[in-house]
Amino acid sequence: MKIGAPKETFKGEDRVAMTPQSAQALQKLGYDCLIESGAGAAARFSDEDYAAAGVEVVKTASALWKAADIVAKVRPPSDAETKKLRKGQTLISFFYPAQNEALLEKVNKAGSTLIAMDMVPRISRAQKMDALSSMANIAGYRAVIEAGNNFGRFFTGQITAAGKVPPAKVLVIGAGVAGLAAIGAAQSMGAIVRAFDVRPEVAEQIESMGAEFLFLDFEESGSGDGGYAAPSSPEFREKQLALFREQAPDVDIVITTALIPGRDAPKLWLEDMVMAMKPGSLIVDLAAERGGNCDLTQMDKKVETSNGVTVIGYTDFPSRMAAQSSTLYSTNVRHMMDDLTPEKDGQVFHNMDDDVIRGATAAHEGEVTFPPPPPKIQAIAKAVPKAPEKTAEEIAAEEAAAMKKAGRFQTLILIAGGLLMAFIGAFAPASFMQHFIVFALSCFVGFQVIWNVSHALHTPLMAVTNAISGIIIVGALLQVGSSSTIVMVLAAISVLIASINIVGGFMVTRRMLAMFQKS
Ligand code: NAI
Repeated sequence: MKIGAPKETFKGEDRVAMTPQSAQALQKLGYDCLIESGAGAAARFSDEDYAAAGVEVVKTASALWKAADIVAKVRPPSDAETKKLRKGQTLISFFYPAQNEALLEKVNKAGSTLIAMDMVPRISRAQKMDALSSMANIAGYRAVIEAGNNFGRFFTGQITAAGKVPPAKVLVIGAGVAGLAAIGAAQSMGAIVRAFDVRPEVAEQIESMGAEFLFLDFEESGSGDGGYAAPSSPEFREKQLALFREQAPDVDIVITTALIPGRDAPKLWLEDMVMAMKPGSLIVDLAAERGGNCDLTQMDKKVETSNGVTVIGYTDFPSRMAAQSSTLYSTNVRHMMDDLTPEKDGQVFHNMDDDVIRGATAAHEGEVTFPPPPPKIQAIAKAVPKAPEKTAEEIAAEEAAAMKKAGRFQTLILIAGGLLMAFIGAFAPASFMQHFIVFALSCFVGFQVIWNVSHALHTPLMAVTNAISGIIIVGALLQVGSSSTIVMVLAAISVLIASINIVGGFMVTRRMLAMFQKS
């Protein structure tokens, strides 16, 4: 089968759904790849790059739509593009079927299959196809870069001969994918970062990135299904607004990303908060496309308020980093094709029993298949149901009982060990007993120490075992020249095993350290 990517027709869209790299992976799945001439130019992929990757460069969009069995796009198809669709053809693109019912009907009428990349369910297995997250990640990063470009000061604090520069204070509202990316970028540029989200479970993620979670003392969890938020109560909203009102005069940059899918963006940064901000401050509203989180956001525009605050409402952040976003998006599409081609034979097998394929399919074999049933597998971030809360007294009583039980067990083991020693001592020579008692005690102490070490500390523990292995080698080397053959062989085996332990320990430690190194 042939898979092709046309040039995006939406004005200002620089992304492309296939890169030379993704095309090579698609060819490995057995597909022939096509690209419309110039489709990748704005993302810095030339026709020559595609040709070198074995992709056929087609002169016009019409020729591409005609030749391709599967068409991969970024934006939903235009009316003109829908007319080019034919029966049995598969279209893969962002589509937002809930907001584009009429367009969905047209695609279905044409008899085509539609895979909406924005409908990929947020479950662990589908992460590699989660194009919404890929784009939100870029948008969050780019929001910080855009803010830096318009902010008249450093992000990081400095002490220079010319004076002290305070660090910029950044507030991120909504710590989903885009919010967390913004927190990471602002933090790495040296700003003081604060963040707020209605889902309390993200507090840990925010804090692990070095930002401060703005805690709201209110008995309500904003967590909904599928890792998304649930609408908040009016009382909660009032508390939240009061918190933001407090922050407004203090922060320099506000990045808002708050959204519940399928709803308009909640208004969280009201006009009075904008007016309370210092001149030169900035608001980047990522939710601009759904009406914006800020009262003064204008979609696709950068405006300056009467008190000198800049409000940015661009909706094309991923397209502003077209090379990066095309690379990630085309990889998401490639993974989707991977799942659609189980035999790796260049033939699509549309398995509607597969959660991910079913979730993303909006039209198939002449039927509108949107909305999909909820996935059978639990969403990634869905909260695990909690056991009923215990009181402090109950917890203390339980702990005491557990300690008592463990203490009794240890006493029994000690008595049994003592009796065994006395029994062996009655028959064995004194010199043997001395060594044997030291051996038994070290086994006991070693077991107690290692058993109680938490998993996170196993790497340093390995360094300790390396040291112990070193001592074993020294001991074994002293014995290796013994006149007894048995002692010599045992000593040689000890040297060998301890050496394997040391070398293996170093190799594992090295690999673990490499995980934290930037390449
Ligand atoms: P997400 O669903 O992962 O994150 C949204 C976060 O907002 C969630 O953590 C949710 O708990 C939080 N939230 C919802 N209501 C809230 C409230 N009332 N107060 C505080 N937090 C609240 O979404 P994702 O993928 O991170 O996208 C974020 C936004 O970025 C969306 O509006 C999306 O459309 C937009 N976006 C914008 C782009 C652009 O170029 N401007 C590009 C890509 C995404």
